[in-house]
Amino acid sequence: MSLRLFARKDIAALMQEAEGDGGEHGHGLRRALGPLNLVTLGIGAIIGAGIFVITGQAAAQFAGPGILISFILAGIVCGFAGLCYAEFASMIPIAGSAYTYSYATLGELIAWIIGWDLILEYAFGAATVAVGWSGHFRAFLHDLGVTLPAVPASNLTLFGIHMHLNYDYIGFLVIMAITTILVIGIKESANFTTGIVILKVAVVCMFITLATAFLMKHNWQPNYWHPFIPPNTGERGHFGWSGILRGAGVVFFAYIGFDAVSTAAQEAKNPKRDMPLGILGSLVICTILYILVSGLLTHLVPYSELNVPDPVVVGIRTTGQQWATFMVELGAIAGLATVMLVMLLGQSRVFYSMSRDGLLWPWAGKIHPRFRTPYLSSIVVGLFVAILATLVPLSILDEMTSVGTLLAFALVSAGVWIMRRTHPELKRPFKTPLVPLVPILGVLSSVLLIVSLSGWTLLRLVVWLAIGLAIYFTYGSKNSKVQAALQSPPPERAPSMAD
Ligand code: ALA
Repeated sequence: MSLRLFARKDIAALMQEAEGDGGEHGHGLRRALGPLNLVTLGIGAIIGAGIFVITGQAAAQFAGPGILISFILAGIVCGFAGLCYAEFASMIPIAGSAYTYSYATLGELIAWIIGWDLILEYAFGAATVAVGWSGHFRAFLHDLGVTLPAVPASNLTLFGIHMHLNYDYIGFLVIMAITTILVIGIKESANFTTGIVILKVAVVCMFITLATAFLMKHNWQPNYWHPFIPPNTGERGHFGWSGILRGAGVVFFAYIGFDAVSTAAQEAKNPKRDMPLGILGSLVICTILYILVSGLLTHLVPYSELNVPDPVVVGIRTTGQQWATFMVELGAIAGLATVMLVMLLGQSRVFYSMSRDGLLWPWAGKIHPRFRTPYLSSIVVGLFVAILATLVPLSILDEMTSVGTLLAFALVSAGVWIMRRTHPELKRPFKTPLVPLVPILGVLSSVLLIVSLSGWTLLRLVVWLAIGLAIYFTYGSKNSKVQAALQSPPPERAPSMAD
């Protein structure tokens, strides 16, 4: 059979499939989420290890107090991508996010690449957050007088590369615990999630309030904003403007999650209107909070002292409020848990969708007879993520997550422009403004942040995509349902073809 690399899923068929989906996605879920719920969902997925952990490390290693500018830059990049996601989510309000959008617009090969790439966003992202969670959990127990055994570590040399491995068993355990919840299918009850999001936002606002009050009381002293942009050390990405750019690539992680709102499209009351509100609303709120937190933190604490697992806790300690330290730790522990939950859930859903399309093995789409969850996919993902969280250093996990998500953003932005040209007739309740300028800026700014990351990260991305393509050509392309349909198209559901 001849392979049509750019075969597309028909949008009408996709919508029909979504309506009648008796599986994990449609499963008769009530359309219960209003705009506020969607914004809350977005914030629940966004605020996590990025602000509670990575801000400090990025300031200490790359940008100094200039991390505030990094946050603004990363926020602008996410703004372009967010506007593009919003158009797609209102036009094709079905679960599956970027993978589904690209299957309908850019064709199967690109959909595969995005699906494979989303593993970097969700699986590596969940592992990153697990490492951050572990640091906060330890600090929390320590403050309660319980000291856990230190993380065992060893050195390993593989193919001439020396590695320092930490065996972060807490990260492993927390991922396995969340995987168990996902397999059993305890749906994150809306109230529970909302409660945690309120706690998380309250803790961030509390930091902003206490830090501002402390600084105002002391006439804005201490002031570690001098120099605001520490001079470059001579190495690209280490302070100076290249450091700010590298910092933006790294703290970009903190914004990841607003795209997760689009996965709830089938549970939204009025997805066409509310998807853009959920995506853009949560993004705007988090951008403001991040700029304030990073600015105050680097004002209060010398940036060189922020390379710790719990920098916000270090910041709040400076204000001398012990009770607030406790609250920040609690907020981080609860808040990071919801981020891991959303990411692991997103990952198993993407696997499930790809398996249902025939691009991945049938086991990944298998539904548990009693729990009605894609249990095998959840367990395999859980084990993979737990091993990553145990062995791989945070900085590698973080950059792999960022690079994967940025690539997805670039492809989604390009998709909006392509769709305007190929399907101008489709109804777009939300229109990305200034097309093609915004999609072009979306692509360019994502690519700029991608190349600002370390050379190793780019190499790992290439290797990751090569492995993915090998699987596509040996398995996915041969078992794809869209390809099979192209050989004998049913009269009313023929997938359309790209040129
Ligand atoms: N934005 C999420 C976080 O910071 C992934 O944890």
